[in-house]
Order: sequence, then C-alpha cells, then structure tokens
Amino acid sequence: MKQKFIPVTGPSITEKEVEYVAMATRDGWNQNYKKYIDLFEKKFSKYVQRKYALATSSCTAALHLAFLSLDLKKGDEVIVPNITWIASVEPLYWMGVKPVFADIDEKTWCINLKDIVRKITKKTKAILIVDLYGSMPDIDKILEIAKKYNLKIIEDAAEAIGCEYKNKKAGSFGDVSCFSFHGSKTLTTGEGGMLLTDNVAIFEKAKYYYDHCKDSKKIFWNLGVGYKYKMSNLQAACGLAQLERVKTLTTKKRQIFGWYKKGLSKINGLQLNVEPKNTKNTYWMVTVVFNKKYNVNKEELVEAFAKFNIQARPFFYPLSSLPAINENANTPVSFDISERAINLPCGFNITKENVDYVCKSLLKILKI
Ligand SMILES: Cc1ncc(COP(=O)(O)O)c(C=O)c1O
Repeated sequence: MKQKFIPVTGPSITEKEVEYVAMATRDGWNQNYKKYIDLFEKKFSKYVQRKYALATSSCTAALHLAFLSLDLKKGDEVIVPNITWIASVEPLYWMGVKPVFADIDEKTWCINLKDIVRKITKKTKAILIVDLYGSMPDIDKILEIAKKYNLKIIEDAAEAIGCEYKNKKAGSFGDVSCFSFHGSKTLTTGEGGMLLTDNVAIFEKAKYYYDHCKDSKKIFWNLGVGYKYKMSNLQAACGLAQLERVKTLTTKKRQIFGWYKKGLSKINGLQLNVEPKNTKNTYWMVTVVFNKKYNVNKEELVEAFAKFNIQARPFFYPLSSLPAINENANTPVSFDISERAINLPCGFNITKENVDYVCKSLLKILKI
C-alpha cells in the first residue's frame, strides 16, 4: 500500500480552539472588539515573563515594529545571522537599515559570537539574534557584547515558543522580542505574531506605529504615517486556546524529536538539533546535517524524500546568497552547513510509525 503523504509541518487543533474561535465569532464585536486580543496579550506576556505584549498580524510585522521602536535609521547597521528566514531582515531593507551578515555556530546554528564582534563597525546599532529551529544561542555572552559596544538586542523567537536559556523563556531576552504564530509554528493563530518588551517606551512606540500613528485623544487624527499590523479577535481566541495547551504542544514536539533521535541513532555521521547545557529546545523543526562523507545535496535529498511521499525541506539558504539580496558575506559555516542539511517532517499529526518510515526511507536514500 502506498504511504500516505507526510507533511513537513502542521498544527494541533482541538475542540478547544474551535470552541474559542466560535465564542469570539459570537461575542467578539462592539464593546468586546478586542476582548480576546487583550486576554491573549496578557496571558502571553505572563507566559514569556515580559511586561508588555502587542499582538500583531505576523512576526514580520512585529519585527518591523521592533526595529522602528528602537529608532533604527537609514544608514545604521544591524548584525544578523546569515541563516534565518528572510522575514528576519526584510523590514530592515524597508527602512534603509543595512543587515550585516554574521556566520552561524556549527552546533546550535545560531549566530556566531566571535563573528558578531568581527563585524561591529561605527555604524552598528543592534544585534538580531534568531533562536533557529528552537535552538538557543549563548545569550549571556551576546548580552555582554551588546553592553560593551552599546548595542540594542532584538530576539527573533519566531521558532522558539517554550524554549529556555538558563530557565528563562525564549522571547524574554534583549530589548525587544518577537514570535510568529504562522500555521507552521508550534503555537498557531493561522497567521499572527507578538512583540514583547519590558521597556514601556519601546512598547508605546510599537503601539503607535501598529495602528496608523493615531492620536490617543483625537479621533481620526493621525500624527504620522504608520502601518496596520493588528491581530484580529478571532485569531487571538485561537491563540488563547493554543496557549492553554502550550505545555502539551511543546512536549509533543520534544517527543517527535526523541523518536527521530532514536530512529536515526544507527546511522553514523548525522548531526541533529542540539540542546546545550542550560538550555531547553522545543525542536520546532527536526533538522539533520549530513556528514560530508555522504556527499549529499539538500535539494536532491528533498526530491528523494518526495518519491517516498515524504515532504522534507531544505535548510535555509544563506540570506546573502538569495537573489533578493545577492551580497558577499564571509560566513563559511553558513554556506557549508546549508548545503548538506534538511528539515524532516515533524508536524503534530505525525505518528511514531511515520517517523520509523522516514528513518527507513533515509537508509534507502543513502543506500545503507
Ligand atoms: C526566524 C523567523 N523569523 C520571522 C518569521 C516571520 O514570521 P511570520 O510568517 O509570522 O511573519 C519566521 C517565519 O517563518 C521565522 O521562521
């Protein structure tokens, strides 16, 4: 019998989400027009342990607001990892701010600390850290660098709900942090995001920009040209239900990763996601880097898996290499790892049997 298609991601939606969205559809209007948004922001900020939270239409929007609220200006530079989704840096281009690409760490795949220091110039204003695939960088060391060079920190925790560094939640670090609730993410609202900060000035600026720079006292009176980046009540209701299940969601992700870890342990020369001491990884994407001896190419691997009805994804391309950016960046580790790494299916509907099938298929693909 032909194996049923195994998608790379997919949410966990129960009757609770259906019920909460139905509730918001019934009563989330008129004076209740932001009832679920307020609740979601309140509960999410408590979960991450940040003072202020602003629910947004996406993480891309939240990142844009974060950069605006830090007063980054045309000509400023922000050091960013060369491996991440383009959304991490796109808003910088909109603002005329220059992303400067730093290499990644071989094990965590997050920004490389030494390369941050190498790439600091007089124009550097901030460092963007990305908790890639649920992995945490060495936050304390990055905070030290930021302090020494007087730089702001933005944490892109889009992929890292529930992850921890020294018992503190991902999204609680730096001046401002952002999450994504896109349909592929561990906690989803379909589309959506959240900006978090402990700094009231940053929060107020983000709030100002996210709804057309409105005057707080005078209706239909705009003090600047802003954006429309709000989340809807219905999405927030879905987020509330997901947040109530967040422990179950992150535990499931860890279980799926555990199945792969065991299933792939018989194959030599594979590096999976790591969980350094003092961190907790919630493995948004189960990722495998293949030893050079296999001489694999990520695109060919994705095609090979497709023949088994398995959807895999290539590891992110170095941003500097994308046609959209096309820049020289001295980041050898990013280029090396990106060539020979893929994400394996790890959506919530995957079963242990599916994971066994993926592992067996890999043996066939590698001809072992
Ligand atoms: C690291 C990272 N940053 C930002 C984003 C953008 O999130 P959104 O799609 O919610 O705008 C994503 C989404 O995939 C991401 O993975």
